[in-house]
Parts: sequence; C-alpha cells; structure tokens
Amino acid sequence: MLNPLDNPDLNPFDIAAEAASQIAEKTGVDRHDLALTLGSGWAKAADLIGETTATITAQDIVGFGKPALEGHVGTLRSILLPNGKRALVIGARTHYYEGHGVRRVVHSVRTAAATGATTMILTNGAGGIKGTWKPGTPVLISDHINLTADSPLEGATFIDLTDLYSSRLRAIARTVDGSLDEGVYCQFRGPHYETPAEVQMAKAIGGHIVGMSTALEAIAARQAGMEILGMSLITNLAAGIQKTPLSHEEVIQAGKDAEVRLGGLLAQIVAEL
Ligand code: HPA
Repeated sequence: MLNPLDNPDLNPFDIAAEAASQIAEKTGVDRHDLALTLGSGWAKAADLIGETTATITAQDIVGFGKPALEGHVGTLRSILLPNGKRALVIGARTHYYEGHGVRRVVHSVRTAAATGATTMILTNGAGGIKGTWKPGTPVLISDHINLTADSPLEGATFIDLTDLYSSRLRAIARTVDGSLDEGVYCQFRGPHYETPAEVQMAKAIGGHIVGMSTALEAIAARQAGMEILGMSLITNLAAGIQKTPLSHEEVIQAGKDAEVRLGGLLAQIVAEL
C-alpha cells in the first residue's frame, strides 16, 4: 500500500491530523498531553510511567510504516499517568537512513502534536564522545548539530531553534537525578557508524553525542509548538574513542542492560512534568 506521505501533493499535517483521529478512535482517548519516543534502551519506561489503557500496532495508523529494525517495537501506547495526564508512547521510529524521506521520519512527532501533546520527549541510544561517559550513561541533550543536510520543514519556513531542548525541562530532569550530564547531539545520516575522523570532526565542532535520529524530529516538534526534552543513552563510546570496533549487538545489549534504570528515571521525570 502506498504511504500518502510519499505523495507531494498531500499535506503532511493533514495526514498527521487524520492519524491523530484514528488514534483517538482506537484508544478512546480524545487528547494526549505529552508524547514519548522511546529509542534503544528506553522501552521499559512505557511499563513504568503509568497504566497502559490501549496498545495499537503503529502500521494500522495512516502514514506509519513497518519497523525496519530488530529491537524496535512498532506500537503506539496510550498511558494514563498517576497525575491523570495522558501520554502517547511511540515505539515506532522511522529513521532517516531508511531512505523513505524526512516526512516519514517526523510523522510520529507531527501526529503526537495533532493528538494534543504539548511536550515531546525524544530518547535514543547513541555514541559518546566525552571521555568521562561510560556505556550505560543517560545524558540530557542540550542542543544539536544536524549533519543530515536535510530538514523536515518544507518551503520558506523559517523556524527559530534557540533553546530547542528546553532548559526548563532539563532543569526538571536534574531535580530527579542531579548527576545527569548534558551534551550536544550530532545527527549523522547513518546507517553506518561514523569513522574515527568523523567523530573527531563532531568533537571539533562542539558535539558530544553521535547518533542517527532525534535532530530532525526535534525540529518538527518545535515547528508544531511542542516543548522538547531530549535524552540519549550512551550505548558505546563513539568510533575511535573506544578502541574496539562498534557493533549493533553491543548497542542493543547496552540498551538492554540499562533498560530498567532508564525506565525508572524517565518515569520519575515524567511524573514531575
Ligand atoms: N553512532 C551513531 N549512532 C549510534 C551509535 C554511534 O556510535 N551508537 C548507537 N547509535
């Protein structure tokens, strides 16, 4: 079946609005207050933040494609938080490296905004450049450098990206865990990991974290008017910083090992929002 997002004559915001009404119908929840995209290592948070009242297969919602990656679950969950708020948990991320275009990459974020969410929590597994970080360390994203040479914005849409990763939300996260460090996230296209030279470049231009998601999603979330909290799990030290070759298995394993702790951390942060 063709994805309507691939039709340039259709408006991606109309498709996101349609997706949001399908979610409302299938979950019985008219409006969500916040949304979370759970990347490698963060999935457990969905079980810990509240009571899941509905789980949907993402593919059943307009615009969402098949999950491309083992270890990524293609579901959308509606969760009732202890404070009465409703969270939409997006366990289905389309990565830029899949080559389906940036509209598909940011569709879940636009859909979340269309469900009413005003806060977007974006999480990922990523490589660390700071020598003090060990695999398994969660860090706050303070800003990003978008190295994809692409944007989710179409046409002459000039959007300010100052304080994109809300300093207010980072401060709240730090009230939960005062030891949380922060860093600048560099989104590379992938799916190959970076070369050691590219990691040195990222470091030289002010980067601390390397990954293959999040920056494009954050831009779309800002366009939609949402406040953004970004968090990376450092699954490995970036290429050349760690002396052994990188492997996808290592990244997945580091995510599994950290899952319970990260889930607990995120659940506590969400409770404070
Ligand atoms: N680079 C890019 N993406 C990643 C990495 C990395 O080192 N680790 C996990 N995702």
